[in-house]
Amino acid sequence: MVHPVFSNYRQYAPIALLRIVFRGTGIGVSAAWAGCASFLETWPGRRGRENGPEGEMTTTTRQLAEVADHVNELQKRILEVVFEPAARKRLRLFTAREAARWIGLSVPRLRDVCEQENLVPQEQRRMSSRGGLLLSAAQIGDIRRHMAKSSPRSMRYRPGRHTGETCQVIASMIFKGGTGKTTLAVHLAQYLALRGYRVLLVDLDPQASATTLFGLNPSQDVADDATFYGHVSGDRRFAELPIETYWPGLDLVPANLALALTDFEIAGRAKLQASLPIHDYLRRGLDEVRENYDVILLDCRPDLGMSTLNALVAASGIFVPVTMSQLDIASMGEFFRFSAFLLEQLHELGVEESHLDLDFVRLIVNRFDPGQAAQAQCHHWMLARMPDQVVRTTMLQTAALGHAGSQWQTLYEYEPDEGRRRAYNRALEALDALCLDLETILWGAWGRRSLPNRNRQPQESVADVTA
Ligand SMILES: Nc1ncnc2c1ncn2[C@@H]1O[C@H](COP(=O)(O)OP(=O)(O)OP(=O)(O)O)[C@@H](O)[C@H]1O
Ligand SMILES: [Mg+2]
Repeated sequence: MVHPVFSNYRQYAPIALLRIVFRGTGIGVSAAWAGCASFLETWPGRRGRENGPEGEMTTTTRQLAEVADHVNELQKRILEVVFEPAARKRLRLFTAREAARWIGLSVPRLRDVCEQENLVPQEQRRMSSRGGLLLSAAQIGDIRRHMAKSSPRSMRYRPGRHTGETCQVIASMIFKGGTGKTTLAVHLAQYLALRGYRVLLVDLDPQASATTLFGLNPSQDVADDATFYGHVSGDRRFAELPIETYWPGLDLVPANLALALTDFEIAGRAKLQASLPIHDYLRRGLDEVRENYDVILLDCRPDLGMSTLNALVAASGIFVPVTMSQLDIASMGEFFRFSAFLLEQLHELGVEESHLDLDFVRLIVNRFDPGQAAQAQCHHWMLARMPDQVVRTTMLQTAALGHAGSQWQTLYEYEPDEGRRRAYNRALEALDALCLDLETILWGAWGRRSLPNRNRQPQESVADVTA
């Protein structure tokens, strides 16, 4: 039976969902509505805070704004220092051993192909002969494409979707904060791009952590209408949103604080007769771009508001990163209960089942420390109880992510110093094994019987250039 909240959802769902959003904060709905209206009016992106009369600011708002400005300056400075001289992120080079693993070749074969086919300039090969061959991600892509053309088993080197296979839209979601949604979405996006898939990462979180990891300053480099909010508010077609990143094959729909208004905007628009159903902005938006990609990853915010509802409907599969703490597990149960409730309500309202179907839902254990008896026991229990839903490979708790993060980098970008190499290699190995399992799930969703081609070799980083 349709819950009363949903029975006339065009009219009441905004209020109902706002109620859900504001219930935890103790703010009443009418206060929330009034707040939304004035908030939308005074949004800096719309009027420009610097243009607004200073006199209108209270002492508190001025203080908060000052902190925001300081943080912004700090972030600008850090980006300048970390990524000097260009103050822009660039992708490091990869060793022959790493490149061989990404493509699925042996190292000698990779060297032969580079030399015989002249895929790498002679000058680069000569310089490399002293310290080991170093290749850019673009060159790795060139070599893979060459192999795909020339090898009779070219399917091995064309992992992207084939005729008849649809673009997979994978959401990294759970309403618990800090479980690793962004870490998973960004690393998986980079892994898949290096493996040769065409990837789009959509940052749906106003915190914009994924956007920041790609070297952008959300408040400076990203216009409000360049985010998903710009599409919801009708300013931009979704097809205008993806931007190229410094990762070949990986595009990004960036985020900034404007996304915090998405739920209010959808709620407001739900009152207009001509507006889209509240759950369908993202799915229909993705229709404009899905032909360009093999995989679209959605980095969701830690809530179950309207943008997350949109992600749930747009997704063909869901990865749910969880940690092995009792509190997180309890909130995970609630997340699934509420997701099921939302989808059921939409179904009862007549939303096509094919729009609500998911090819897969998988729990991914993150920040795992097998040395902690309570965690190990919990993991064991989860695997025994839900063998089909829990991904066997775990992502270990690792300080390497923190070290990489302090330089605005992911594990795939980071170059550790000598002292941290071993810990880094262990973390990278765990991450790689996890991503390979997730890639296998992707292949399963496409109905492929074979397994992704991956030449498993021990990890080494760019500093081990002896290959
Ligand atoms: N396996 C791990 N080991 C150590 N640190 C980790 C691990 N996974 C994530 N982290 C760290 O935990 C913090 C939170 O991770 P992340 O931002 O990915 O979580 P999130 O679920 O996206 O958070 P939010 O709910 O706020 O969006 C980050 O500092 C990240 O570097
Ligand atoms: Mg996040």
